[in-house]
Amino acid sequence: MCGIVGVLGNHEAAPILIEALKRMEYRGYDSAGIATISSNGTLECRRTVGKLVNLSDHLVHAPLQGKAGIGHTRWATHGAATKNNAHPHQAKSVAVVHNGIIENYRELRAFLANEGIAYQTDTDTEIVALLTQHYLDQGQDPAQAVQTTLAQLEGAFALCFLFMNQNDLIIAARKGSPLAIGHGDGEMFVGSDAIALAPMTDQITYLEEGDHAVITRAGAEIFDENGQRANREIRQVHIDGAEIEKAGYKHFMAKEIAQQPVVIGDVLNAYMSAEDNAITMDLKGIDFTKIERLSLVACGTAYLSCLVAKYWFERYARLPVDVDIASEFRYREAPFVPGTVAVFVSQSGETADTLAALRYAKGKADMILSLVNVPESSIARESDVAVPIHAGVEVSVASTKAFTCQLTTFALIALRAARERGHLDDNKMEKYLNDLRKLPGLISHALSINDEVETVARALAEANDVLFLGRGQMFPLALEGALKLKEISYIHAEGYASGELKHGPIALVDQATPTVVMAPHDALFDKTVSNMQEVMARGGKVLLIADSKACKEAGEGVWKSLIMPESPEMLQPILYAIPAQLLAYHAAIARGTDVDQPRNLAKSVTVE
Ligand code: AGP
Repeated sequence: MCGIVGVLGNHEAAPILIEALKRMEYRGYDSAGIATISSNGTLECRRTVGKLVNLSDHLVHAPLQGKAGIGHTRWATHGAATKNNAHPHQAKSVAVVHNGIIENYRELRAFLANEGIAYQTDTDTEIVALLTQHYLDQGQDPAQAVQTTLAQLEGAFALCFLFMNQNDLIIAARKGSPLAIGHGDGEMFVGSDAIALAPMTDQITYLEEGDHAVITRAGAEIFDENGQRANREIRQVHIDGAEIEKAGYKHFMAKEIAQQPVVIGDVLNAYMSAEDNAITMDLKGIDFTKIERLSLVACGTAYLSCLVAKYWFERYARLPVDVDIASEFRYREAPFVPGTVAVFVSQSGETADTLAALRYAKGKADMILSLVNVPESSIARESDVAVPIHAGVEVSVASTKAFTCQLTTFALIALRAARERGHLDDNKMEKYLNDLRKLPGLISHALSINDEVETVARALAEANDVLFLGRGQMFPLALEGALKLKEISYIHAEGYASGELKHGPIALVDQATPTVVMAPHDALFDKTVSNMQEVMARGGKVLLIADSKACKEAGEGVWKSLIMPESPEMLQPILYAIPAQLLAYHAAIARGTDVDQPRNLAKSVTVE
């Protein structure tokens, strides 16, 4: 996804735009640019390739004046990360920044070619600037020209328009990608999210699907998808500035890993009563005795939290669960049996694949439930019930505290379901809830092996390929360990069910390919020992992540081991996320990659 920002201010816009883009750089960082309207009405752009710092440097030598402006930080969808493809895209008298995909841009490009209008870039976004200019040239005013243009666009977009000779006008539009308007004191702002606008204002209006807004310093006129005036709520959205700073850590990822004992405590406090052993989460009347099936849908790490949750719902609540990758879900045309609740998990609440899957399920599932980290996000707002995961702002592209908070939230829901469906008596419920209360302390204990992990990670970083193995509820953790490692260190890593090793992946085992085995001492441990022996018998190096009992039983042949605290079985998938995160973090540092903003990635992918 990309980050977009707009300012109608009483001060020079360029520095404000840059600061806002800094807070959105996690959304995409292939290129960046700004445009301003100078005091004499001139519309000018500055664009650079790569990180935002390159644009800041460029502006030192080629400053832009003006108190009205728009800005953009890009995650490339159409067209390479070049200066020519960077936003803003400018036609003669209009500049535009865009987050999303214009799906019919080729047809529109042909339409303009017939009008003799040439295309200069490889992007889809340029079509928006050229079309708007085309209608301006036909005598339409900016608002009309934008409306005519919007009516022709198909796909997903958040757009901000700036016009020559108009230093008190920004037009913003939203369809499929989030966009917020910030209300200042005689100033107005636009941003992809409240984080971008936090230092300027906490008075935020979220545009709804299909809205566009004509904004001046006096305020915003908002129109719905039918062109009718719409009143959208101005809400106070408080973003603690400290949440979006590194607070002394070298990387956001390190900070967010370290925050897990506290934020998991926040989840438990939010949803467990201190007095009695009740789970107080407001599920708006969901009655688990009437639910026949759960359909869990998500992407990436959020999807892996669903795979863990499947074990819990089926084991403790005896509730059948389907789990789908969001981008596959709606195309397999899954039949919905009566009594199905569809659950969508998304840290950002804006992932396009997950949002599209939610919209597919609407009207088919009995109810739409979501677990999100951004309560005002699109997925939250389109759900019947949205359950916040209380992870706090997660900036680093690699999802860490959101994952463990998703799991903790799921654990509580699974126990609630088990209780309601009569599979947990008071004593057992008390035991499980008391186990959960140990989680923050156990996570802190797990974090204490950081130095040992760092040493192992340096050795692991020399490999080009790594296998991760896990059984049962630890299988999704093997997948998560592989995802974490590959996405921030760029080491090729694959997660497998331990039992699957002999059915193919063992062909990869050799001296150069370490195998990471995540195996607390549980009922399946003996089988996992066999898998480890199979690896070591072929010269493979095993890194065992397990409790001390398991490490002792595994014997001398293990290459390296990381000892975890003993823990109740239900908590193990949450706890073992910590060494997986730390392993990836330190391997990435050893490899010198950009931990918080890995190449090609973005924090939330708002395009399908
Ligand atoms: C996880 O480390 C990745 N950054 C990515 O897989 C992420 O989990 C996925 O894109 C889903 O994002 P969401 O939770 O915001 O929907």
